[in-house]
Amino acid sequence: MGLIQIQTPRGQATLTAGVVPLLVELTGAKQIDRIDLRSRRTRTSTMDIQDERRRLLDAEGTDEYETVTGVRSEQDIYLDKVQNGKLYLAVFVSVLGPLSFGFVLGYSSPAIPDLITTNDDRVRLNDDQASWFGSIVTLGAAVGGLLGGWLVERIGRKLSLMFCSLPFVFGFAIITAAQNLWMLYVGRALTGLASGVTSLVVPVYISEIAHERVRGTMGSCVQLMVVTGICGAYVAGTYLGWRWLALCCSLPPTLLIVGMCFMPETPRYLLSQGKRREAEEALRFLRGPDAPVQWECARIEEACDHQGAGFKVSDLLEPCVYKPLAIGVLLMFFQQATGINAIMFYAENIFEDAHFDNRALGTVIVGLTQVFFTGIAALIMDRAGRKVLLCISGVAMTISAAVFGVFFHLTTGQHNNTSVRAMASGVEGSLGAGPEVDLAWLALASMGIFIAGFALGWGPIPWLVMSEIFPSNVKGFASAVCVLTNWGNAFIITKCFQDLLALLTNAGTFWLFSSMCAINVVFTIAFVPETKGKTLEQIQDNFRGTPAQ
Ligand code: BGC
Repeated sequence: MGLIQIQTPRGQATLTAGVVPLLVELTGAKQIDRIDLRSRRTRTSTMDIQDERRRLLDAEGTDEYETVTGVRSEQDIYLDKVQNGKLYLAVFVSVLGPLSFGFVLGYSSPAIPDLITTNDDRVRLNDDQASWFGSIVTLGAAVGGLLGGWLVERIGRKLSLMFCSLPFVFGFAIITAAQNLWMLYVGRALTGLASGVTSLVVPVYISEIAHERVRGTMGSCVQLMVVTGICGAYVAGTYLGWRWLALCCSLPPTLLIVGMCFMPETPRYLLSQGKRREAEEALRFLRGPDAPVQWECARIEEACDHQGAGFKVSDLLEPCVYKPLAIGVLLMFFQQATGINAIMFYAENIFEDAHFDNRALGTVIVGLTQVFFTGIAALIMDRAGRKVLLCISGVAMTISAAVFGVFFHLTTGQHNNTSVRAMASGVEGSLGAGPEVDLAWLALASMGIFIAGFALGWGPIPWLVMSEIFPSNVKGFASAVCVLTNWGNAFIITKCFQDLLALLTNAGTFWLFSSMCAINVVFTIAFVPETKGKTLEQIQDNFRGTPAQ
């Protein structure tokens, strides 16, 4: 990166090349010389550059220039010139991926009861097969996370996103045409694989195209679309049989592949490949015609210089790699340790227990609650910050899971026969609450608070933070480890749920989830960095222990 000397009405100053176009435009200064740092072997520290900027701007001695001292203010000035229309369009197209993945997650709830009672012997499921049909998606997704981590580095973010539409569409096509159980399993595994790739690629794509003023809200759209997809599958499932439902689920990924043809690759990926001209074009598309995109390009390039090219095992010894990796992995582990998937499976039974005749309506209400609170989280994410929301969410879940346990404790003996399959499919068994102990309202209220709490923080934020904290050169590897942890745990917890119930009793299992949520809060306060309002480069500088530039 070079330095440039400029002449202002009050004297000369030396600045990094990236900030010059912006300051020249702001102050009316003239560029008089370019200094190549390498040829002069000059080691100009960040502090020197900031001092120079300050000297230039202080020299002007006006309030107007006061506001431009320091990088934060440069960002503000830059961002004031940005138009977000096309950025929103690119985010909208990319989140068709999480929408498809939500349809995959939601599909089993209405499809399993259908497949258990179907007249067609070739595809009729028994208890065990139904449980595999539900959970094989999480295994496929864990593998998809690894594949996604490799793909984003090899073919880039945009092509990886287009690629993941294929297993979605093929998977749903195989399910639609299924003639035997294996076709059902293969279809589910393929759609799971696509979900794993998507859950890695889309957060990375969005964090790299968004800027810090809207990155939290844009990143939260990932989870918003996941829960919208889940809810969409529940609603569509009340009208459609399992084959038609699978066909309907293949629509979002089809639109994704078409829409992404018109969207840009991320500027960070292009710059990491040395494609500066393409990166500027991508930024011009995303930031509108008035933004001096060379400034942002230079800022990203500077960060890429720091981070080096490609991932090496020795990078794991760097604090700016192992610290965020540990945080990302633990966030994913704790998200699943809350027991969200177990509680969602359980939702239908709780509604039944609360004398809701229409269980399908009950699941739709759960879906809508998630969509509503995830929407609120998205709206306030960039104002409230990630840490505060994670803490509020963790506390709400700790209390509600504990109350859930109390409910089971008080009604012990009435639901010893509850099977995980009954929970997962909602087709048989119920909590069996008799009129003498009608505490269903307690279960209903705690479930509502738990799901709302999850949607406000622990649902969207682990995915968002994962996309913000890794340096570019390790993003593929580190995100893959996070996605593998998330989906691997989702598989283990949903598969072991029945054993947990048998081992710890229902009350004990929910108290265990409650204690995990309490640990989440302590972990958040102690270790999770606040990323609100920071550039990706500033976040990484904090891990490196160097002052943010
Ligand atoms: C979690 C999934 C969960 C989904 C639904 C996602 O953030 O990773 O395990 O099923 O949210 O709320």
